[in-house]
Amino acid sequence: IDPSLDLEDEIQRLKRARNAVILAHYYQDGEIQDLADFIGDSLQLAQEAKKTTADVILFAGVHFMAETAKILNPERIVVVPDMKAGCSLADGCPVDRYRAWRQKYPDAVGITYINCSAEVKAESDYICTSSNAEKIVRAIPEDKEILFAPDKNLGRYLVEKTGRPMRLWQGSCIVHETFSMKKIVGLMERHPDAKLIAHPECEESLLRLAQFIGSTTALLKFTISDPSAKYIVATESGVVHQMRKASPHKEFIEAPPEGNCACNECPFMRLNTMEKVYLALRDLEPRLEMSEELRTRARIPIERMLALS
Ligand code: 13P
Ligand code: SF4
Repeated sequence: IDPSLDLEDEIQRLKRARNAVILAHYYQDGEIQDLADFIGDSLQLAQEAKKTTADVILFAGVHFMAETAKILNPERIVVVPDMKAGCSLADGCPVDRYRAWRQKYPDAVGITYINCSAEVKAESDYICTSSNAEKIVRAIPEDKEILFAPDKNLGRYLVEKTGRPMRLWQGSCIVHETFSMKKIVGLMERHPDAKLIAHPECEESLLRLAQFIGSTTALLKFTISDPSAKYIVATESGVVHQMRKASPHKEFIEAPPEGNCACNECPFMRLNTMEKVYLALRDLEPRLEMSEELRTRARIPIERMLALS
């Protein structure tokens, strides 16, 4: 790339030339969020992808999100900045192992978190996101056993919230498991006026202390409507960008990880850069493609989720 290029201008120009829309998750770098036409949590991004009439969707997020966009709106060209932007939850649930698990409990209903591959979606009965998971669990008849995959932390939280026992796949998010309880408790002692807010992918010990738990959008909305002036935010740090923009007078403290790493940043989400967004729009590559057979099967449990949302 010519270093004299103004990437922001070029991306805006290409967006118009390609009739493209940029959908971004809150865990993207701030500069990518600022370029996006739409920012949302996993559910909102899926809904937006389904209804867009743009010719091209540039999905600034991770692979499973772009895949969901393609499943819901196959007529569009879906491009991503980096095809290697995966997810530890999706990686920890390979389809052959998931299928074998389902076969052990043939009468059970399979609810799967949207953070999984299209292949696993195709084997699931319902997809859910962190914002609608409780609703989906409650929609399953009481006499049915539920298999919940792949996030054990969200699963355990849902069991507690709904009182509904479920068999849990033992996966987790590498980002939401890095927070240091010791440091968080220390912060809470030093800032007794701050509220701890957390994403349900966090571990049980952290969720027990949290005063509010929700999806990225729910966390953002809470900080806007809640009267407090200070928050300790236990999720990927990207979302704090929008919190600060929406409430510049409030203070947001990122929940600290163990050690001195930046591991409250998702290494997959952060593979996306302005340069790669520019190249993806310029070249319309890399593109998300999948077989029609897989797409059709994976769409069914996602549509069931959307109907219940
Ligand atoms: P939500 O934005 O749906 O809360 O999801 C968080 C996440 O981990 C996405 O990978
Ligand atoms: Fe996956 Fe965790 Fe990254 Fe979200 S933050 S994409 S769940 S690894």
